[in-house]
Amino acid sequence: DGYFTYDPGFTSTGSCQSKITYIDGENGVLLHRGYPIEELAEHSDFMEVCYLLLHGELPTAKEKKDFEHNITYHTMLHEQIHAIYRGFRRDAHPMALMVGVVGALSAFYHDSLDISDARQREIASHRLIAKVPTIAAMAYKYSVGQPFVYPRNDLGFAENFLRMTFAVPAEEYKVNPVVAKAMDKIFILHADHEQNASTSTVRVAGSSGANPFACIAAGIASLWGPAHGGANEAVLAMLRQIGHKDRIPEFIKRAKDKDDPFRLMGFGHRVYKNYDPRAAVIRKSCHEVLDALGIRDEPLLDLAMELERIALHDEYFVERKLFPNVDFYSGIILQAVGFPTSMFTVLFAVARTVGWVAQWNEMIEDPEQRISRPRQLYTGHDKRSYTPINKR
Ligand code: CMC
Repeated sequence: DGYFTYDPGFTSTGSCQSKITYIDGENGVLLHRGYPIEELAEHSDFMEVCYLLLHGELPTAKEKKDFEHNITYHTMLHEQIHAIYRGFRRDAHPMALMVGVVGALSAFYHDSLDISDARQREIASHRLIAKVPTIAAMAYKYSVGQPFVYPRNDLGFAENFLRMTFAVPAEEYKVNPVVAKAMDKIFILHADHEQNASTSTVRVAGSSGANPFACIAAGIASLWGPAHGGANEAVLAMLRQIGHKDRIPEFIKRAKDKDDPFRLMGFGHRVYKNYDPRAAVIRKSCHEVLDALGIRDEPLLDLAMELERIALHDEYFVERKLFPNVDFYSGIILQAVGFPTSMFTVLFAVARTVGWVAQWNEMIEDPEQRISRPRQLYTGHDKRSYTPINKR
């Protein structure tokens, strides 16, 4: 009944039209609303990039101020949400809390669930961008058994997030400006990346008319996997497992062996067949942050650079155009800042929320939008008759 193309993994399917992000994978180019990621990472800040992704243009000074005010206004969580945290085990993975608590926002903010109302969609968008960092920091606090730290609206996005995560009562907490700047840059670099698995998940979930909080929770679930957002966590685990430069050849050999499930984490990308431009920015930031924190010698960074050097000279990786991706170096910065590896994917979610929200809004406003409903190639049994249980 009708013609369709069999395309597992959607490698050749354009699922939507979008004006938000452009990627040229062959040449390693990434543009948001036309602006190169390198320029945004160098000159802009995360709040400005959020505005750009949502509205299509860089804000004027007044627009930026109003936008920041809107976001900080929504950073607090309904106090009853604290009770949800207590329902989780302390040793739960923080992404489990993220999926649950972000989804639960739909049970609290009933005045921003009507997706046919542009004003409600805008409030839901602001709420998500503002509250996801608070939820993320609380997930961390819960896991270490410390009291939650409320947001402070006089601080910038990254500073506030660092404070909610690391400040403890009765102790002075000062954010290192180099660290705050590096976090802001990491947020910019992860803000959007067109139709990746989690963003496609958000669009598919939203195509049925589901509310935005539920859709973003679906995106977070998809991001959790090691082939997607979980890769930054997996990179650090891999570097620790390798342990020493002498063992790199052994792991390169394993990565090439098709009978071994081991892959070089942080390497390869569905779209980039060249150096991921985000990886180049983050590699530079890595050195800056380690310097600012007075870390002279970081064995994991030396190991990562040597691994990259060897892989980029290996025929297997060259032939398949496998280069380091954004996650290859980000984990080293995050570890230096003090985040446990279990928080790495959570930080990716904090940054990507704006991309998900921008893409969700674009989909809702697209007159060609229909419910996402792929077809399949059925490879199951032919029609047969039911056998009663005593005859099987
Ligand atoms: N190590 C070893 N071999 C690899 C790797 C790797 N990291 N990545 C791809 N390959 C090989 C793969 O085995 C295949 O070889 P062959 O043609 O001989 O069968 C070839 O390269 C093409 O790979 P693929 O699996 O068909 O490519 P894909 O587009 O389906 O997968 C990917 C892309 C990112 C899932 C994959 O490269 C991978 O698993 N990388 C490691 C995980 C990772 O770093 N993920 C983060 C992606 S960037 C951040 C994000 O979007 O979340």
